Amino acid sequence: MKRSIIITGGAGFIGSHVVRLFVNKYPDYKVINLDKLTYAGNLDNLKDIQDKPNYKFVKMDICDFDGVLKLMQDEKVDGIIHLAAESHVDRSIKDPFTFAQTNVMGTLSLLQAAKCYWDGNWEGKRFYHISTDEVYGALEMTNPEGIKPPFTTKASSGEHHLAYGSKFFTEDLKYQPHSPYSASKASSDHFVRAFHDTYGMPTIVTNCSNNYGPYQFPEKLIPLFINNIRHRKPLPVYGKGENVRDWLFVEDHARAIDIIFHKGKIAETYNIGGFNEWKNIDIIKVLINTVDRLLGRPEGADMDLITYVTDRAGHDLRYAIDSTKLQRELGWEPSLQFEEGIERTVRWYLDHQEWVDNVTSGEYQKYYDSMYKNR
Ligand code: NAD
Ligand code: TYD
Repeated sequence: MKRSIIITGGAGFIGSHVVRLFVNKYPDYKVINLDKLTYAGNLDNLKDIQDKPNYKFVKMDICDFDGVLKLMQDEKVDGIIHLAAESHVDRSIKDPFTFAQTNVMGTLSLLQAAKCYWDGNWEGKRFYHISTDEVYGALEMTNPEGIKPPFTTKASSGEHHLAYGSKFFTEDLKYQPHSPYSASKASSDHFVRAFHDTYGMPTIVTNCSNNYGPYQFPEKLIPLFINNIRHRKPLPVYGKGENVRDWLFVEDHARAIDIIFHKGKIAETYNIGGFNEWKNIDIIKVLINTVDRLLGRPEGADMDLITYVTDRAGHDLRYAIDSTKLQRELGWEPSLQFEEGIERTVRWYLDHQEWVDNVTSGEYQKYYDSMYKNR
């Protein structure tokens, strides 16, 4: 095998797309999916590639330093793409300890295992850490009605073509995380950079905007709301629904990860996003219209499901990524227009009700009911 790489969190949403891309595109790489299979990890996400000869699944906790070190030795691992994390802001507000444990201690444990195994022999090695735009904090909404964004990408080139402020997250911004989730991701990013600066480990960090697409756990806005609209359940919109997120189709993120893993410069940070800002309430209306149309209901019939609920504590107002560095230096750009991506995503969830039912049964349903019963 030409390379032997570990992808952590490969049974989760983004990780499963990255694993699929690497297994299919690089038959001469050994791709090891290391995942603890928490509530968010699901091997059904990878059924189509599970029997490929260059794929291996290992159920392991990233905090298991001895286990990770032995796996690296046994498999002669020369690259790590690290996605495993606790990823849901609402859960981090309820239970910050788990986020510190997995996102901070887990990342440190992986870094230390890689340092021990590679032992200063950095040639051809790479530790690539996947992070989020949420570490930069929140941007102001200086243009609530929206203005033309400074750049257009394929993702943002549809009818809705707006930016809600003149400032964007750039790679040189100071970190200002607000939620326990983003604080834990920020901390892990600092550890990754510290391992480069202190030991010379060849690291890369990327910070991506909100992803959407197939296989996202239906506790996040888009899949949760698609499922609720289908079953005519209330849509719990936090605050006034005015918060802005910058959305990227998950396969475009996976393609960026591929390019950056192979061509990105050591010790660099790259922001990933498609200049595709949307207010939550506008996305929710698109989702209602799309689900209704695809289910043969009158378009917009389910608007009355919108239910404004108490705002999320510390709810960041606006995220907007400036990805010009990545586009300029490595030639990446989104391949899919948002309207097309949303249509594909809604169709996927409507066609995969069994997957949704499997991942949301049992413990998750109890958690969801406890989150929303008093609102
Ligand atoms: P996810 O919650 O869908 O999946 C996380 C995966 O990590 C799951 O398979 C889970 O089983 C695994 N995992 C959790 N704890 C583990 C542990 N201790 N050891 C081993 N495996 C463990 O997350 P996602 O949305 O796919 O996000 C993946 C990464 O991308 C995260 O690091 C996240 O911070 C980052 N990110 C996500 C988004 C987004 O919009 N989802 C945007 C930018 C960055
Ligand atoms: P989410 O998908 O949880 O991603 P993040 O918080 O990491 O951006 O939420 C996206 C936006 O949708 C965010 O502004 C919070 C909002 N939201 C709701 O209004 N209601 C919900 O039930 C959820 C899950 C999110």
